[in-house]
Amino acid sequence: MKSFEEIINSEEFTAEELARLLDADETEQEALRARAEQVLFDYVGPNVYLRGLVEYSNVCRFDCYYCGIRRSANVSERYTLEPEQVVEAAVWCAKNGLASFVIQSGERRSDKFIDDVCRIVSEIKRNTRSERLPDGLGITLSIGEQSYASYKRLFEAGAHRYLLRIETTNPAIFAAIHPEGQSLEERKEALGYLKEVGYQVGTGVMIGLPGQTSLDLARDIEFFRDTDVDMIGMGPFLIHHDTPMSEYLEEWERRKEDIYRLALKMIATTRLALKDINIASTTALQALKPQGRNEGLRHGANVIMPLFTPLEVRQNYKLYDGKPCLDDNADDAMDKVIKNVASIGRQVGLDLWGDSRHFKKRQTNGH
Ligand code: 5AD
Repeated sequence: MKSFEEIINSEEFTAEELARLLDADETEQEALRARAEQVLFDYVGPNVYLRGLVEYSNVCRFDCYYCGIRRSANVSERYTLEPEQVVEAAVWCAKNGLASFVIQSGERRSDKFIDDVCRIVSEIKRNTRSERLPDGLGITLSIGEQSYASYKRLFEAGAHRYLLRIETTNPAIFAAIHPEGQSLEERKEALGYLKEVGYQVGTGVMIGLPGQTSLDLARDIEFFRDTDVDMIGMGPFLIHHDTPMSEYLEEWERRKEDIYRLALKMIATTRLALKDINIASTTALQALKPQGRNEGLRHGANVIMPLFTPLEVRQNYKLYDGKPCLDDNADDAMDKVIKNVASIGRQVGLDLWGDSRHFKKRQTNGH
């Protein structure tokens, strides 16, 4: 059996070795972190890329047991932004050096919804081309499982990246946190469609789910590797009071500190295993600890997604309790992110799409 030191310096890892990294104690965690940071610098570089995030609609057809905007949650107002509001936020981002933009939404499948998103995407492209950004804003979608045909239409409209989290690859846990009718297999199939259409594809999981072991998370990392994904967004599982999973509140409170550390170790371990992908340091990490997003970057993440949702609807898009940045306007959000990144000795890659290196390699190799 390899020592911890030998494992972190390996090129390839078994599931057991990945689980051993995830079980690191505090001293080992620092060694893991330092190694992950080194791998990030060697394979991707120290730049932190920004994606302006707009939460387009909190209407959702699904009823996931953990999520604060699930269909049966008592959200004070269900909203859908006007296309102009999304385009306006995108234009602000383009003017202020954020070359990349994410449209996220609850999951909806009507033709009108897809039509509207297509129109928004092409409007953004039309309105953000400039000398500095000859190809306009880079656009990522995070609007759930859709048909192959819809993915294709959205891609042709100008979106080029797509985030669709698998949430967990453990079938029993997946089934326990989703109502019947949602399936792990369909989620995997959707990820396959996205790749086939030509998107840069991102996925991710929640960390610290009830019953989830280090070996489960190790297998999640193997799934990321075997699916050959370009981007990862993952964060700690957090409680939303108005969901069935709020029954875990006490257990969760007890484990909170461990879940936080586990989420950071998961970022570092994923960096060691997948090397040249983009990894986001997510808002959920910051919800758990004010320093969380910076720590994510220090553990090998290289993407931050500051919020640009119009302030008047932001409190209606709470996936979990304790969501930060509820009243930061666009200027504040941008200032904060630049200062935060500078405070850990890194730099924001302004005016850069910051595409996944892995995707570029995948294209050159023709697969
Ligand atoms: N805790 C942490 N993450 C959550 N998400 C949704 N609800 C929660 C929660 N309670 C994450 C899911 C989803 C993403 C948009 O937000 O992973 O894919």
